[in-house]
Amino acid sequence: MNISFAAPSVPTSGALVVGVLEGKKLTPSAASLNKQTDGALERAIATGSFAGKKGEILEIIAPANLQNSRILLVGIGEPGKLSEKDLEDLGGSAAARLLAGGDEKAAFLVDKLRGGKSAQERAAHYAFGALLRSYRFDKYKTKEKPEKKPKLKEIKVLVEDAATAKRLFQKLEKIAEGVFFTRNLVTEPANVLFPKSLVAEAKKLTKLGVKVTVLGEKEMKKLGMGALLGVAQGSAQEPQLLIMEWQGAAGAKDAKGKGGAPVAFVGKGVTFDTGGISLKPAAGMEDMKWDMGGAGAVVGVMHALAGRKAKVNAVGICGLVENMPSGTAQRPGDVVTSMSGQTIEVLNTDAEGRLVLCDALWYTQENYKPKLIVDLATLTGAIIIALGNEQAGLFSNDDKLSEQLTAAGKKVGEPLWRLPLGPEYDKAIDCDVADMKNISGGRGAGSITAAQFLQRFIKEGTPWAHLDIAGVAWSTKDKPTVPKGGTGYGVRLLDAFVAEHYEK
Ligand code: BES
Ligand code: MN
Ligand code: ZN
Repeated sequence: MNISFAAPSVPTSGALVVGVLEGKKLTPSAASLNKQTDGALERAIATGSFAGKKGEILEIIAPANLQNSRILLVGIGEPGKLSEKDLEDLGGSAAARLLAGGDEKAAFLVDKLRGGKSAQERAAHYAFGALLRSYRFDKYKTKEKPEKKPKLKEIKVLVEDAATAKRLFQKLEKIAEGVFFTRNLVTEPANVLFPKSLVAEAKKLTKLGVKVTVLGEKEMKKLGMGALLGVAQGSAQEPQLLIMEWQGAAGAKDAKGKGGAPVAFVGKGVTFDTGGISLKPAAGMEDMKWDMGGAGAVVGVMHALAGRKAKVNAVGICGLVENMPSGTAQRPGDVVTSMSGQTIEVLNTDAEGRLVLCDALWYTQENYKPKLIVDLATLTGAIIIALGNEQAGLFSNDDKLSEQLTAAGKKVGEPLWRLPLGPEYDKAIDCDVADMKNISGGRGAGSITAAQFLQRFIKEGTPWAHLDIAGVAWSTKDKPTVPKGGTGYGVRLLDAFVAEHYEK
């Protein structure tokens, strides 16, 4: 999508998008179009229930006296009450209509309004929402009829002081690039995206100034990552530990403490989860191609931070494995030794995410002594039972970190809900044979016991949060700024979290 900004004018072709305020009140641009069309806007509004409430859309086809194909009236409610997310949702919903409408070009006419954000800010966030919604993954559709494909190529945002709006948008555009990178990774099938090919994709971030290094099986064996390697041993695909470093803080020398300890993001990257010997049922197993959604988000947020040259030191670490059943696969009952030295009885090979993460988390702490760690993982089906597909689960040993993450999620529309941790839950993974077992064995609190498992690999004094994104990494329905499919959840959340608290 080509998005540009220019001074107010009214294009004489393509679609026009204008706002209407609460109570059917026309914005100046809408009023002027209404005049030109001999009152078509007012008559259209009078035909039905459109009242200018936030998110309502009314489409006027072939407006009188104009060469334009259509006018989209977008309800913007009360301007004083519009959050950035509201603006993005409006831009996204308008884009969805335009994509379905068949135009190649559209113009958003953004007026100065009384109350709320400046016209330039509103323009930038409308455009950001429209861009996010215009994402499409169609590389494997070789027979799609041209008339079925969305034709919209160009959105012009027309606003006074367009240069300011453009400057605001340029930062947001870098974030969208990170989100799209994640959506692509999450959507690729597992025959295309496996540990080594995911690493090859991540290496593209070197162009942005990210240092990318990789550990293979041999190196991980040397480090004693028996938990991660146990998951990988049934697969023909070699596991990888992906390490991405971004040094953006002023005066930073390296990611290992000099010039400021980094913030660390750790991702579960199971490129396909069959369950292993504890095999999953056939129905729906294809969903497990997106069991690398945590790793995908970590790659995407590093992309976003580097893309917009964030003034922060950040490290992203992803444990990449494929969980397969085979003659070399690990068995229920196997005992593995993690890098931390703690032993684990693997009672269910389908509880593999925690086994991958525990070694990645330990490696991160040993090598970077980070300011804080946030891990992201499509970890449990139980979180979908608890929270559905609306919010991700948040588990943390730190109230401040929890509040910062929750606020960031709310701001960008990637909400989080905190669930408890505690010694009573921790007991559930005590084990007779080893230091711990990888499942509780009981039916209750599956997401919490998974988080307790991870917490056993967090050193005293390290602020840590675990985001269980199993319910939100993939969407089966369209949302205003997120078309159905891989959502890119986590990229915007972590980017906003960094921007708000860790950039100096
Ligand atoms: N990748 C799954 C969790 C998952 C389920 C993600 C559905 C997305 C959608 C994870 O590895 C898993 O299999 N978890 C098990 C744990 C159980 C064996 C304790 C689960 O949730 O059933
Ligand atoms: Mn599993
Ligand atoms: Zn899994």
